[in-house]
Amino acid sequence: MKLGAYELNEIYNIDCLEGMKNLPDNCIDLIVTSPPYDNLRTYKGFCFQFEDIAKEIYRIMKPTGIVVWIVGDKIDKGNKSLTSFKQCLFFQSIGFKVHDIMIYRKKNTPFMRSNAYTNCYEFMFILAKDKVATFNPLKTKTARSGYEMLVAGKKADGINNKVMGHLNEEKVLTNIWEYAVGLGGSTNDKVAFKHPAIFPEKLAQDHILSWSNEGDVVLDPFSGSGTTAKMAKICHRHYLGFEISPEYTDISRQRLAQLDDLLF
Ligand SMILES: C[S@@+](CC[C@H](N)C(=O)[O-])C[C@H]1O[C@@H](n2cnc3c(N)ncnc32)[C@H](O)[C@@H]1O
Repeated sequence: MKLGAYELNEIYNIDCLEGMKNLPDNCIDLIVTSPPYDNLRTYKGFCFQFEDIAKEIYRIMKPTGIVVWIVGDKIDKGNKSLTSFKQCLFFQSIGFKVHDIMIYRKKNTPFMRSNAYTNCYEFMFILAKDKVATFNPLKTKTARSGYEMLVAGKKADGINNKVMGHLNEEKVLTNIWEYAVGLGGSTNDKVAFKHPAIFPEKLAQDHILSWSNEGDVVLDPFSGSGTTAKMAKICHRHYLGFEISPEYTDISRQRLAQLDDLLF
């Protein structure tokens, strides 16, 4: 199946700005991506033009589409860069709605600061082009469920009125999501760790399930080791990845090929 110049379900070794220029307007259902930020890592010397890329992303998203933009901030001489918020504000200035600001909390983080608390999160900006058409809320088990005597209303005398009520077995997640990182946390694919900054497979999967449906097209313009593509494939979505480094493109293709033996 083709989309613009591309066969779907492939990772392309290309600068995403060039890659997106070969896609038609309003064609992508979901982006789940983590761009390079604040030159924290060199990624083989490649850099990216944020503002032009943001405008291309706006053009190619369907009006019902969602962009999940996952970023943190560098600390330079005790000063946080706030690149995350600057990028979010730029997205808003070109027409995106900031549908939510979610937190990706890392369970195990080795980076300590001597004069501040250990940073353990990144932002997940949820950007909507126009109308959010798909929201499949993920749920978690409640601590207590079944029938219990519940407080029904406090009277002026302070005595609680209790009645038998039913507690739900599940509740919708909050917008803070926590994941283990590293081998066995982010992924079990050893080859993926040749990339310096992967995000957890479960994180990608949770967004894909939340904001898209089977058969939708999921793009990662900064595909890295191919985590979003891999989870899109597992979740029966079409995927497309752009990655500027040939070495990382190769890693992502290896991960996707491993899936072929396991899945179908
Ligand atoms: C934070 S990493 C993404 C990691 C990915 N989420 C994963 O789980 O493997 C960002 C990636 O963007 C790539 N990159 C940088 N500039 C790019 C550009 N202009 N076009 C496409 N990819 C680019 C880098 O090489 C790097 O692999």
